[in-house]
Amino acid sequence: MNEQQIQFSRCLDDLICQSRSETGGLWQGTMKEYMSLVHENPEIAQYAPGRIYTMIMTKGAEPIPDSERLPHYEDMVRYKFFAQEIFGIEEPLHDLVRFLRAGANRTETGKRILILVGPVSSGKSTIATLLRRGLEEMETPIFSVKGCPIHEEPLHLVPRSLRPKFEDLLGLKIEGDLCPVCAYRLTSDERYRDPGGTLRWEEMPVVQIRLSERNRVGIGTFQPSDPKNQDISELIGHVDLGQITRLGEGHPMGYKFDGEIQIANRGLIEYIEILKCDIKFHYVLITVAQEQLIKSPGFPQMYVDTVIVSHTNQTEFDKFKGNKENEALHDRMYPIYIPYNLRVRDEVAIYRKLISRSEFHEKVHLAPLTLEMAGLFAVLTRLTPSGLCPDLLKKAKYYDGEAIMEKEKDPVDVKKLYLEGKERGEGMHGISPRFNMNALNIALGGAKDRASCINPVDVIRSLKHQFSHHIGFSDEERNRYQALLMAEKNSVLAEYRERAKKEVNKAFLFAYEDQAQALFDNYMKNATAYCLKKKILDPVTQEEREADEKLMRSIEEMIGISEVAKSEFRQGLFVFKSDALERGQSFDFKTYPPLQEAIEKKLIADLKNIVSLTLGDKTRKDPKTIKRREEAIGKLLERGYCTACADALLEFVGEILRKEE
Ligand SMILES: Nc1ncnc2c1ncn2[C@@H]1O[C@H](COP(=O)(O)OP(=O)(O)OP(=O)(O)O)[C@@H](O)[C@H]1O
Ligand SMILES: [Mg+2]
Ligand SMILES: [Zn+2]
Ligand SMILES: [Zn+2]
Repeated sequence: MNEQQIQFSRCLDDLICQSRSETGGLWQGTMKEYMSLVHENPEIAQYAPGRIYTMIMTKGAEPIPDSERLPHYEDMVRYKFFAQEIFGIEEPLHDLVRFLRAGANRTETGKRILILVGPVSSGKSTIATLLRRGLEEMETPIFSVKGCPIHEEPLHLVPRSLRPKFEDLLGLKIEGDLCPVCAYRLTSDERYRDPGGTLRWEEMPVVQIRLSERNRVGIGTFQPSDPKNQDISELIGHVDLGQITRLGEGHPMGYKFDGEIQIANRGLIEYIEILKCDIKFHYVLITVAQEQLIKSPGFPQMYVDTVIVSHTNQTEFDKFKGNKENEALHDRMYPIYIPYNLRVRDEVAIYRKLISRSEFHEKVHLAPLTLEMAGLFAVLTRLTPSGLCPDLLKKAKYYDGEAIMEKEKDPVDVKKLYLEGKERGEGMHGISPRFNMNALNIALGGAKDRASCINPVDVIRSLKHQFSHHIGFSDEERNRYQALLMAEKNSVLAEYRERAKKEVNKAFLFAYEDQAQALFDNYMKNATAYCLKKKILDPVTQEEREADEKLMRSIEEMIGISEVAKSEFRQGLFVFKSDALERGQSFDFKTYPPLQEAIEKKLIADLKNIVSLTLGDKTRKDPKTIKRREEAIGKLLERGYCTACADALLEFVGEILRKEE
């Protein structure tokens, strides 16, 4: 064997060893021993909702920082269990946890069928998946009567008549009775019977189990299909024809208790598109929700302990609510509304998550603001107009916690704004994250090679293109969305124009820090000469000249210093400078704040010309212009741009400035 083969064989052994310890090492013992375990740690005998509740709570929860929450989320927390996967919809998650807590406390509310209601792709399945996965990975061990087809709680072995005493001793309530199979095995096996005939239920073997979707333990899923072909046995199991002829009708060993609800005992069942199901399935659910019982033909009712997590969209749900025939089910459902995100930054977090999991992740560069603009578009389509804040773009910014409020004389009450929106179903309509991801993927797909990069303009273009490839928009919707995307004003494109200009300004301004110092030096030289009533020696001509009044005034005017006040300002500055130098301190353009402000304002004012000059004419070969452009690009690179998108940005802004001239 060569080095590589040895290495491989070692790794292989390691992995095999690991997988053994994952599957093996599970506790086995008798019912009596199990009761000691329960006494030590009652959490192992929790009911399904309590188990899920513990699963979420043990991961921890933290307050949501003010800057990261919608205004009415004051008392809400962020559950770490969901934090890496679900963004921005803390309120529904808060409801979900409350519901589970009610279930853990065995209240009626907590026994209802959970139904997640929301528009397509709002994260309903993701929530259900997280719960399923969480159960599989949960650390609190869980046990079952050995060989039980529905892996039931061993405490069911405690005979009804003895329960109060055992409950006292163990400090918990015991619910439910043995399933037909376990009951049969207990009573028919000589090993569990005294010579006197009494049952030795405490000798029944108990095993630790692992909830697993793949092994069909504790986690079930059910999805409606063609109602003509779908049989109730998918939920409640079926007769095992091979066995029943041998054993006789009604024999527990002649029935397969492998319906999805039975499988889901101790954990949860995800019930997809519940309202599309035939009504016969609803009856099964009603008894499960109400009494935690299911009935398989020929057997007494069987106890099941499972959380039913179902989901549906708003239209189906409205139809369902309006239908009197469904009244029995109405009462037993617990709806939680799962809206779309209304905060751009949360929406962006979704895209980042999805992109980081795709193959594009390392291949393509995303220009700054690209995802923000896609997210802004999504949020805009979801907002409802309001008299409190007619400008949707502004509303989106309010929700996103942007500090525009500080500058306003008469700021909008964001909480009121939000609650009004909620009342009007805000977040239940609009464009889904999936729609936007498709557009992003198409834009990403267009950037083939490694050096490629996509920017906000690519995404806006790709979104526009998406409209023609999406079924299900009415003409009215399509027009509205298109306007939100690229209308001249109050659109994503308009917003991007503004943001792009700011980006470029910043790049030039930072490149001009030494420019600021130069301007400052120049100003100081002139002001000093003015104060000392001296002339200035021109470095080039070697001639003496007066202090440059025009230059000084152009800077002073920036901070509102009048002609009358200019002398005082210059004198003050002169004293300040002498003091600083006397104390051995340096004196640069940042030392004296009023002057710094004036200098920067002057620079920004000049910038517009410089920027448009630098961006305007590509054929200009003047070395100074080229250098400035290069410096700005250098700054953009530091701020997350690559050369391709930095170029594209300058191009884009150059075009805008040309039009503005
Ligand atoms: N608030 C959110 N936070 C994180 N990811 C989200 C959120 N909303 C949607 N997603 C992502 O969007 C995609 C679609 O979500 P999911 O499939 O869970 O939606 P759904 O509500 O079940 O949709 P459908 O009604 O179409 O079945 C997933 O990749 C999911 O990760
Ligand atoms: Mg789904
Ligand atoms: Zn059983
Ligand atoms: Zn780039």
